[in-house]
Amino acid sequence: MLRTHSCGELRKEHAGCEVSLAGWVNRRRDHGGLIFIDLRDREGIVQTVFNPEISPSGLKTAEEMRNEYVVRVTGEVALRPAGTENSKIPTGDIEVIVKDTEILNTSNTPPFYINEEVEVDENLRLKYRYLDLRRPRMKENMFLRHRVTKFMRDFLDARGFIEVETPILLKSTPEGARDYLVPSRVHPGEFYALPQSPQQLKQLLMVAGFERYFQIAHCFRDEDLRADRQPEFTQLDIEISFIDEEDMLNLMEDLHTAMVETLRPDVRFIKPFPRLTYAEAMRRFGTDKPDLRYGMELVDVTDLLGESEFGVFQQTLAAGGVIRAICAPGGAVFSRRQIDELTEFVKTVGGKGLISIGLTGEGPVEELTADEFHSPMHRHLRLEEVRAIAVRAEAKRGDLIIMVADQEEQTSQALDGLRREMARRLNLIDEGLFVFCFTTDFPLLGWNEAEERWDPVHHPFTSPKEEDLPLMDSDPGRVRARAYDLVCNGWEIAGGSIRIHRRDVQEKMFSLLRISPEEALDRFGHMLEAFEYGAPPHGGIATGLDRTVMILADERDIREVIAFPKTKTASDPLFGAPSTVSDAQLKELHIALRPGVVIPKESP
Ligand code: AMO
Repeated sequence: MLRTHSCGELRKEHAGCEVSLAGWVNRRRDHGGLIFIDLRDREGIVQTVFNPEISPSGLKTAEEMRNEYVVRVTGEVALRPAGTENSKIPTGDIEVIVKDTEILNTSNTPPFYINEEVEVDENLRLKYRYLDLRRPRMKENMFLRHRVTKFMRDFLDARGFIEVETPILLKSTPEGARDYLVPSRVHPGEFYALPQSPQQLKQLLMVAGFERYFQIAHCFRDEDLRADRQPEFTQLDIEISFIDEEDMLNLMEDLHTAMVETLRPDVRFIKPFPRLTYAEAMRRFGTDKPDLRYGMELVDVTDLLGESEFGVFQQTLAAGGVIRAICAPGGAVFSRRQIDELTEFVKTVGGKGLISIGLTGEGPVEELTADEFHSPMHRHLRLEEVRAIAVRAEAKRGDLIIMVADQEEQTSQALDGLRREMARRLNLIDEGLFVFCFTTDFPLLGWNEAEERWDPVHHPFTSPKEEDLPLMDSDPGRVRARAYDLVCNGWEIAGGSIRIHRRDVQEKMFSLLRISPEEALDRFGHMLEAFEYGAPPHGGIATGLDRTVMILADERDIREVIAFPKTKTASDPLFGAPSTVSDAQLKELHIALRPGVVIPKESP
């Protein structure tokens, strides 16, 4: 070994010890004749001192050292002189007096600061990801990710689960996104699809009798990217035989409780995890993934505005829409400019606009006067309407009521976005609190207007509720699924369901999805056949590992917890992926690019 200790482990107790350390120059300070090098390895940073009276050659070498050089030092651990201790770092009581040193490798000047938390262009960070990952925050995120996966594995192992790997080169596994395809060389004109999830495979493992399966699984989905979406991501994938919804929710609650208690003992959370049906979540929060760390629930005020002469309300009501509101506590202080900003914001979250009412004055809102509320729409609002809305929204003087009038779906989306935005702007979020909740009873199917057919809300293998089976023929839109999601702080972190395990029900599902019997056989014949060989009742779930780690790490984007993520346009600036390939490779794969496809000049 080139070293006896790691930089970060040295403490007072090591004073007097002779140590060898190796690491990167985090910072060099030249104090005229005395050089201080902060040496960094993955365990931390320690101050090393180069003194000409101890080692003249050492000082000479230190003069050559620059940030990010890789160096080795040998010397004695000493207590820092009184008054020069640094309480900000764990090694701050000591320093290493260098007797001998060696430069193991030099470094170019890095394209951004590694030893300071500064905003750096994302493309640059990803192009030099190996440097970005040297930054303490990124390193901590990677260690946390390791601890999360280890925790999950140990927890499930102790409960009798086995991890089984499933193939990456396979056939389309629909989860609602586009597939990534891989052309086959040995089967001209044929393609593998990368799995969007191991969904069908884990179900087949249940047919195989494994009973309790899990996998830290890589999934691939060609979809539009967001802060919580990557084209390539990781799931903790679980499937269990002979269970019902209750068993699954209990397992998830136990797993997440134990995980947070172990890995984030500093945060509080609510137990048992609240449960909301999909209908209730949509009604109260406008979303199936509500952030329950704060209130501001949606209230429906449609009936209060039936007589309104305001054109926006009249048109909305005539078109069968709804008018809903949230009440932002203390929001009446918002200036006209801030309201304008919110109006612009709502357009980014699916709304067309908003109507705000700020309440001023004192006393019960029932006694509000016309000059005690302000609104850009003041002249369109009648006092009695405003009073009724304020009462329904349980508003107080000083609050801001925000209303959206639109079709139900758009209203929900807009108010969900506004609720999140207002919570952020008004500092209503308790950052020391994690609120997990389950959403259940999702609809099984959603109507696809463009294709004029039903689409599965989750995926085609989710079981309908037994009592809703008759509706499959008469009113498919009202059939509820045996599906559940786990949500934390407003992020969907897991989704799953009890599955269909009978061929006739699965065939019925395919027919509703307008998948013809021939196509069903071609795409899913292996599943239908497997169901005829004693498929046990089973169900499962998949947790987005990246999202879970993101929340545990207090990050806001899953890229911060993925070692080598893709950019927002699904590319990798470090490797330059995706990239063109040689004509020879294309030929081998029986692929000809269509004329007109533009190939960048630097292609091989
Ligand atoms: P679902 O599609 O709901 O279910 O995905 C499960 C969880 O995976 C995470 N997730 C993602 N994370 C990052 N980037 C993405 N593009 C992405 N897409 C999904 C989310 C989500 O909650 N086979 C089913 C599970 C099952 O039924 O057992 C499935 O994949 O956290």
